[in-house]
Order: sequence, then C-alpha cells, then structure tokens
Amino acid sequence: MISPQTIQQITSRIDIIDVIGEFVKLKKRGANYLGVCPFHNEKTPSFTVSPAKEIFKCFGCGKSGNTISFLMEHEKYSYVEALKWLAVRYNVEIEETFVSDDQKQQQLAADSLYIINAFAQKFFSEQLLSSEEGQANGLSYLEERGFRKDVIEKFQLGYDPQSGHAFAGAAIKQQYNGELLLKTGLVVERNGNLMDNYRGRIIFPVHNNTGKILGFGARVIGKADKAPKYINTPENDIYVKSRILYGSYFARQAIDKADECLLVEGYTDVISLHQAGIENVVASGGTSLTIDQLRLVRKYTNNLTIIYDGDAAGVKAALRGLDMAIEEGLNVRLVLIPDKEDPDSYVNKIGRSAFIDFIASTKKDFILFQLEVLLSEAGNDVTRKNEVVNQMAETLSKISKAEDFTKQQEYIRQCAEHLKIDESGMTNLVNKYKRDRIAKDEKKLPFEETNFNAAKNDQTAFDDNTLINQDDPQEKNLLKVLLEHGLKKWDEEQTMAQYIISELSQFQFDDPMHEKLFDLYQSQYEQGLEPTAKTLMYYEDEAMRTLVVNITMNKYELSQKWDEVMENMNILNRDTSRQDVVMSVNYFKLRKIKKMFEENQRDMAAAKDFEEQMKLIEVHKQLKDFEVQITKELGTVILK
Ligand code: CTP
Ligand code: MN
Repeated sequence: MISPQTIQQITSRIDIIDVIGEFVKLKKRGANYLGVCPFHNEKTPSFTVSPAKEIFKCFGCGKSGNTISFLMEHEKYSYVEALKWLAVRYNVEIEETFVSDDQKQQQLAADSLYIINAFAQKFFSEQLLSSEEGQANGLSYLEERGFRKDVIEKFQLGYDPQSGHAFAGAAIKQQYNGELLLKTGLVVERNGNLMDNYRGRIIFPVHNNTGKILGFGARVIGKADKAPKYINTPENDIYVKSRILYGSYFARQAIDKADECLLVEGYTDVISLHQAGIENVVASGGTSLTIDQLRLVRKYTNNLTIIYDGDAAGVKAALRGLDMAIEEGLNVRLVLIPDKEDPDSYVNKIGRSAFIDFIASTKKDFILFQLEVLLSEAGNDVTRKNEVVNQMAETLSKISKAEDFTKQQEYIRQCAEHLKIDESGMTNLVNKYKRDRIAKDEKKLPFEETNFNAAKNDQTAFDDNTLINQDDPQEKNLLKVLLEHGLKKWDEEQTMAQYIISELSQFQFDDPMHEKLFDLYQSQYEQGLEPTAKTLMYYEDEAMRTLVVNITMNKYELSQKWDEVMENMNILNRDTSRQDVVMSVNYFKLRKIKKMFEENQRDMAAAKDFEEQMKLIEVHKQLKDFEVQITKELGTVILK
C-alpha cells in the first residue's frame, strides 16, 4: 500500500499537460490544449486537456478523466502502477505502509528477477547483433526466415553463444546471486558450475504488458532433432505461464484501436504478423487458454479472433476454453489456417493484404462453428444429435451477462434453425441450464458489475453543467428506453410507459435530475401530452434539455453494447423495444438492490445489538429473494 502522504505528494506535483503530452501531441488552444485522441481513430483533433481543471475529455469518443485515469486507460496501468509511474517522473520517494516481511522478500525477489532478465536481454541482443558467432548463426537464420532488422530489434531478439558459459560468466562477473540466476532459468547447474541453459539458441524475450521482461523462450536454430524446439523459463515469482500472453506489450494499443485481438500460437506468428503491419496480435504459447489470459484480453477488447492451424489438434486446442471465453462475455471468432501452414508461414506466402482479407472473410462465430463440428460428428444418429442439442443449450446458458441477452436469443434462434428444432424448446432448455446454475450459485451475485464500476471510476465531467455525471448507466438507460418506447403498446391493457411506471413504483432514482425527468415524463403522460425525447428537448428548463439531449445522443455503456450486439446479429430491422424495456427495468432494479445490499451490510457492521442484527439479516434474505426472482425473470420473460 502506498501511503496517503506519498499520494498527496504525487498528486500535488502532477502536471497534466506534461504527462499527457508524453503520449499525445498537444497544441495550445486558448485556455486548453488540443490533440488527436489516442483512444479512437480520428483525423480532426477533438481531444481536449484542461490544465486548470486537471482533466481531459475527447469530444469525439466521450472519454474523459484525470491524469491518473489517463495513465490507467492509455498504458493499462493499475491505479498503483500509475502512481508509481508518476512517482518516478516527479521524483517522489514512495513510502509504503503495511508491507509484511514476507511481502517485502517476495517483492525483492521479483525485482531482482526483473533486473537479471533485463541484463540478460541486453547481453543476448548484443551477441546476436554484434558478435561474429551471433551474426553467422543467429542473425543469418532469422534473416533467412525473412525477419527484418527493425523487427528483430523491436522484439529484442537475441542469441546465446555455443560455448555454454558466455552468459553465465557475464552474470557472475556482475555478481548476480547464483540462486536467483537459477530461478530465472537462464542458467543450470552442472557439476557445481553454472552453465548457460540456452546455448546456441535464438532468444525471444517475453514481456509483460508494461514492457518488463518476465522470461524467455529459446529456439534451436534450424530443425529440432534431439533437443526440444523451445526451452521456456520455468515458473517463478514473475513468470507465471497461465497469465502470460506473448506480445501483449507490443499489441495493446493496436488492439485498443482495432477493438479486436488476434490470438495465434507461437512467437514467430506474432512477429511475422507485426512485420506485415498487423499489430493487434498476441500468442498463447501453444497451450489452451486460461481464464487469466482471457481476462487480459478483456482488458483491451471484447472481440477475440483465434487463428489456429487447420489440423485436428488446432481445432481441438481452439475448442477448449470456449466456455470460459463465453462466461467472460467475449465474442469469439475462429479462423483456421489451411494447408499445414501457420500464421507466420501463411502471411509470408500470401502477403499482408491477402492475409487480412483471408481473416476477414473466413472468420467464423465460435458457437456456430462448434455447432457445425458437433453436428457433422453426430451425422444421422438421433441419440448423438440429442446430445448436441443439450451441449449447445448448456453452452448458450453460459452467456450470462445481462447486456448479452439479445446475443443469446439470436444464438438460440440460429441453433434451433440448424438443429431443426423448435425455438421455444431450445429456449426452455437453455433456461433450465441457467436455473440450475442460479440454484447452485445462490451465494454469488448473479451479475458482475465490474464494467459499470470501471466506467464510473474517475469519470469527471469536463464542464460541470453538462451533466455527464457519475450516475449509474442503468438510470440513463431506463430513461432512454422510456423516451424511445414509452408510447408503444406493452399489451392489450397498457403502454410501455405505464408498465415501466408501475414496475418502478417502489424504486427511486439516485440522481435527482433523473428523478425529475422521470416525474416530468409521468406528469406529461398523465395529462395526455404524449412526451418523447423530441418534445422534452424543448422543455423550458435548460438543465433538463441538456439531460434529454445527453441521454438520447450520447453513447454510454449499456445501450452502446446492445446496439453493437444487435448490429452484429443483423437484427436491427427487428423490433426489440419490448426486450429493451424488460432488460432496462430489471437491470435498474438489480442495481438498486445491489446498493441496498451494501447499505444493509454497512448497517449490519454498525448494529448495536442482537435484535437489530436479526432484523437486518431478515432484510438481507428478502433482498436475496428479490434478486433471485429478478434474475429468473431476466432469464425467462425475455426469452419467450
Ligand atoms: N512451444 C514450446 N515448446 C515447444 C514447442 C512449442 O513452448 N517444444 C510453444 C512456443 O511458444 C511456440 C508455440 O508453442 O512458439 C508454437 O509452437 P510451434 O508451432 O511448433 O512453433 P512456431 O512458433 O511455429 O515456431 P517456428 O515458426 O520457429 O517453427
Ligand atoms: Mn512456425
């Protein structure tokens, strides 16, 4: 933990123009600075930084925040990492509190491993680029394979000489601790001596997503006959294979921009694609994906495109991890490279633009791909076809993020069509799996809210009167749906507006302006005025007008996602108003219940006596029931 004093020192020295200017070219415009937004593609600058308010805002994509949130967003730092970066820049000594001796030891060990790795990388690169042996054995091999010098340098590739003690000798001369050297896997012990583990090999440093070197992969030169093709760093304090995606440091900004991450298997695939100008690519290292790797991807994008070899092993490897990816809310697509090629050899064979076209035209939705594979395996066997139905229903039931319900419904439709079964039958089956899981997960909160919390963090409005507040997107979403669909029919008896108003009778908006708009709508509606966004946009109160414009024009988390999903699924021509209403209402309620949970928790901690505690526990139970009921409703009503 960084001490509050340190944080205070750091924040008092921050110069937002200086920090952001490091990453974005800024020009002075009046009191503010203007530049091309680093968070979306634009030609005309609309990224504005206000030194007086110490905040930035892009009027193109709407992203805004302060210096720390800029670093967190742009460099993908955690809060602490951003603070540490600033501390180095402004010469503030970091004072940490509550660090146990164990933690300190661990931190020291990790730091030393990083230091040794940085030293090793420099040593190996120098050998590759400047030594005679390195050039003759290593560099010529890489150049033969078509790797350009600038790319070799960018990825900091290296070479370890044949002798077997070149690196070990240099490291000992630097007085690095033998035990730590062994831990890095760079050396091994032979008859009491430290020897190079990677002798005669090409070295690929593996960076974390801030550019520090976690470890290495070392490839034999030419064909691997006896020795293993690659030797990798053993697991240690910093090299944890399940959390590593090779290339993430070089890919992160391209992934952000493209809003898509390409996933390949090997080091050379990543490097060749980079060389071809395709930079949004990372590698899994040839094993199946782990949950940590998926989460790393999700830090940057929701769209994952897996590019594997087209052989059976490649398909199998790709299919593992599918369910996990779905649970993480990723949109997964798959591309299989034909003819025993891999992405490295294939891009070299057909060239950049043909490769890009190939990916775009052959990438296939993962769930539908799985359906096809399973169906073709089942053939005409009725029992096996039945199993496929169940398996697909179980997979689809894992799409559990509230904002993905439209997507789920579309999959159900398409799967039912392929399987030649009734859509409602498939729906029931999916819901059964979902209910089973809800029953199992009783204790867990059913919906993750990380997205919304992340969106809220440090989102400071640029102008105080624009009302782009820190309120919950759920509230805005509900108002948007009300303004858009309120006058439509809900059923024979009532309109959507009447349905929403009655559903919300027990709830309140947290943001007073939102509450005011809701009341205004209700009173106009009851007077028969048929309110819509258009009529309310001319309302006398300026703050109210701004809010209505903001709600209808501005993109914000929830509805933007829905729009995207609907666009993806090509169903924009369908009327989804009913679904929007149900989801918005229920999502709004879930959010409020979550808040009540938190309040209840706080009260419980402060409760003075047993009786009070019992009462609060009763409230907790009621809230839980309510929550389960809404979750079920989200699962069943919508999918009718
Ligand atoms: N791999 C490994 N150990 C091995 C073989 C493979 O760790 N003995 C990992 C490496 O990360 C490698 C990836 O699996 O990059 C894919 O393996 P492969 O396709 O065999 O290698 P390529 O990356 O294609 O390497 P090259 O193009 O040099 O043959
Ligand atoms: Mn290869």
